[in-house]
Amino acid sequence: TFYQEQHRPQFHFSPEKGWMNDPNGLVYYEGEYHLFYQHYPDSTVWGPMHWGHAISKDLTTWEHLPIALYPDSLGYIFSGSIVVDENNTTGFQTGKEKPLVAIFTLHDMVKEKAGRNDRESQGIAYSLDKGRTWTKYEKNPVLANKGDADFRDPKVFWHEATKHWVMPLAVGQHLEIFTSPNLKDWEKTGEFGNKDGAHGGVWECPDIISLKAEDGVEKWVLIQNIGRGAINGGSGTQYFVGTFHGKTFINDNPPETTLWLDYGADNYAGVTWFNAPNNEKIFIGWMSNWDDYATKVPTSSWRSAMTVPRKLSLIKTSEGYRLAQMPVTQIEKLRLGKTEISKQTISNDTKIGEKSVLKEINLSFDLTTSTANEFGFILSNSLNEKVVLGYDKTTKQVFIDRTNAGKSDFSKLFAKKHLAPLNDDKELTIKALVDNSSIEVFVNGGKIALTDLFFPNEDYTQLSIYSKGGNAELIKGEIYPLKSIWK
Ligand code: FRU
Repeated sequence: TFYQEQHRPQFHFSPEKGWMNDPNGLVYYEGEYHLFYQHYPDSTVWGPMHWGHAISKDLTTWEHLPIALYPDSLGYIFSGSIVVDENNTTGFQTGKEKPLVAIFTLHDMVKEKAGRNDRESQGIAYSLDKGRTWTKYEKNPVLANKGDADFRDPKVFWHEATKHWVMPLAVGQHLEIFTSPNLKDWEKTGEFGNKDGAHGGVWECPDIISLKAEDGVEKWVLIQNIGRGAINGGSGTQYFVGTFHGKTFINDNPPETTLWLDYGADNYAGVTWFNAPNNEKIFIGWMSNWDDYATKVPTSSWRSAMTVPRKLSLIKTSEGYRLAQMPVTQIEKLRLGKTEISKQTISNDTKIGEKSVLKEINLSFDLTTSTANEFGFILSNSLNEKVVLGYDKTTKQVFIDRTNAGKSDFSKLFAKKHLAPLNDDKELTIKALVDNSSIEVFVNGGKIALTDLFFPNEDYTQLSIYSKGGNAELIKGEIYPLKSIWK
């Protein structure tokens, strides 16, 4: 039956069948959150890229819609974005609906096979019926390539102060910024990142957003995905905090400061929704990693899922302004009942009665009084396979350990432990979302996030809280079994 295969995510978005990678065209319009995605419907590995399509009213349950964009003579349809053309700057509007305009990379396989560098260009398409049907612009491409082999992933937004469209574009290992009055004519206005941040791989899928901290300070944040060389191996998402006046991005921090949006191995190509209500910045990522198991993970009729949508915020820390993220609160609708765990001292392994596989785990520990070297929780099954979420007191690191989590023979790079630094906190507050084959962890209000996949041979129905080498002081705990969104 529907969505019941082994490892099939139950409250994360995954395609009905076939291959999926990056989220694309994230746009909110007339009560609907649109999620388009890199999709190859005819196989479970990457191939000719289409844009798959789904919508949601609550960022929690999803409805599949027909494929929106098919590859054409100009190329595969690579990643890109969608904007609402509120003022009809394109002139595409004919009736009452505002044009939704998709801006995407056309990847020309003929040129690629011929070894040419000018294989990627940017094209547009529009919809006048709330994203249901799409017309490609007859004069594509709107931004041609002058010879950069990697020239892709336009993430367009409207800059109100200068009243023009802005397109951050990933070019090799830096970012280029183009602006336009009408989404058709583009001019290069900026370049960033030749020296800044991590450069272990090609830069892909940028996003520039503005966020206000609680003290009223507004910062611009550049989310910059990187194909290889991320903090815990392979693909990952770095970000920069700075300013943007309409033309280029200026980093607040020294070039060598590298900030990571997620410390797990499986959150890539994530960007935010255009036009979300209340100017919220809602992020979603692809839960996988190009290095090297994206096409090898042991799922059957489909491959890959998205993270849960996460609300981004800007927090002030002793080091400067930083991103924080928490799952959108709408996810709480999936809660079924609740198990409360009272304040207690954990001195070994404490089994929690809750047996559901899908769950939300909330735990807080007192770091000032806990004496244990290591503590956290363990998801496990009767085969002794497990995923550990722990805190290491000596190194002051939070980690997910999936070295013994079940299937891993599909890639040497899978069975690993992923670490994140946690400095100067008095408490460790964890929110974890556990699905059939993934865990997402948000630490201390989301200032640290870790996202990892796992593929146990038998579902994880056991949960325990553990400590090693001393006591862990649990302040409180709440576990919620969660229901599936696909039933
Ligand atoms: C990132 C990416 C993008 C590209 C797309 C192709 O995962 O490599 O840069 O547009 O995937 O599917």
